[in-house]
Amino acid sequence: MKILAFETSCDETAVSVVENGITVLSSVISSSRGSFAEMGGVIPEQAARKQVEFILPALTSALQQANVTIMDIDAIAVTKGPGLLVSLLVGVTTARTLASIWNKPLIGVNHTLGHMHSTLLGLKDTIQFPIVTLSISGGHTELWLRDSHTIAKKIAETRDDAVGEAFDKGAKLLGLPYPGGPAISAFAATGNSNAYMFPSPLRGENTFDWSFSGLKTALRYTIRDNEDANKEDIAASYEAALCQHLQTQLLAALAEHSEVQEVHIVGGVSANIRLRSLLEESLEKYTVQYPLKLEYCTDNAAMIGSAAYFLVQEQGEAAYEAF
Ligand code: KG4
Ligand code: ZN
Repeated sequence: MKILAFETSCDETAVSVVENGITVLSSVISSSRGSFAEMGGVIPEQAARKQVEFILPALTSALQQANVTIMDIDAIAVTKGPGLLVSLLVGVTTARTLASIWNKPLIGVNHTLGHMHSTLLGLKDTIQFPIVTLSISGGHTELWLRDSHTIAKKIAETRDDAVGEAFDKGAKLLGLPYPGGPAISAFAATGNSNAYMFPSPLRGENTFDWSFSGLKTALRYTIRDNEDANKEDIAASYEAALCQHLQTQLLAALAEHSEVQEVHIVGGVSANIRLRSLLEESLEKYTVQYPLKLEYCTDNAAMIGSAAYFLVQEQGEAAYEAF
């Protein structure tokens, strides 16, 4: 089954063709992210205008790169939310229109379910359910206990900012560009991560949830109180504190779920090198799966095509949208 998928929930315009939920025949990503580097974040109206411009050329490239025509496509998938409303509308309107004129079934996909499938792209092994998926991006920080591809229960989430948001806001405080994750990582590479103390959020509370807003406030004060300090050290200490908080709550949740042997880590922040090396040792006894390519960590349409395929596998025609 070949699915043509669209993803426009934030500042990317992504179109992909995915076969049987796993084989990526093409994955085109046009981004307006660079234009927001100085702004510290995305301006929705501006992002959506670019998406209107990018979406049809991206569609043409995705079909060409996959070496298929619309005749070969079995269904169309699109991110239906959550995300920026004006951006989502560009993808949803395009996908609905094409599904209608080409007479293809349409599958609406939740963006988070899409991220959960990013580890499936190009995967050779089979997944041993139940698994735990840590989904960490600019919009969410969530832990899911999954019994199958599409049946999942949220067992923890952030109480305030998402971890990607903590990277983005932290970068702004440090005078670094958006998106803050890669910017902080590169800047902090030569810093000493033990130079500054940051609090351990929610310590002593009986929860697997996260809270990142206090760390961001602590960063603000650390910068204010150490004017002449080496900013790389502050950035490294902040990055380490964000990663440690992710790790602490993840390990606590896993300790309560001994039935789980496999952990998937997805979303933009899963690209973070410091996080990966921190988790390597502590997750030694688990099968750990990251998206196979870095471009599958951040927003892309291939993950939406994969999730759509498994929705159809597990839910049949109920996965199809009425339009
Ligand atoms: O998944 P994604 O592309 O979009 C959302 O659904 O939000 O994630 C974007 C987020 C941004 O907050 C960005 O700063 C963060 O992922 N990010 C990173 C890295 N690369 C992207 N955070 C930490 N380290 C990275 N290497
Ligand atoms: Zn995302």
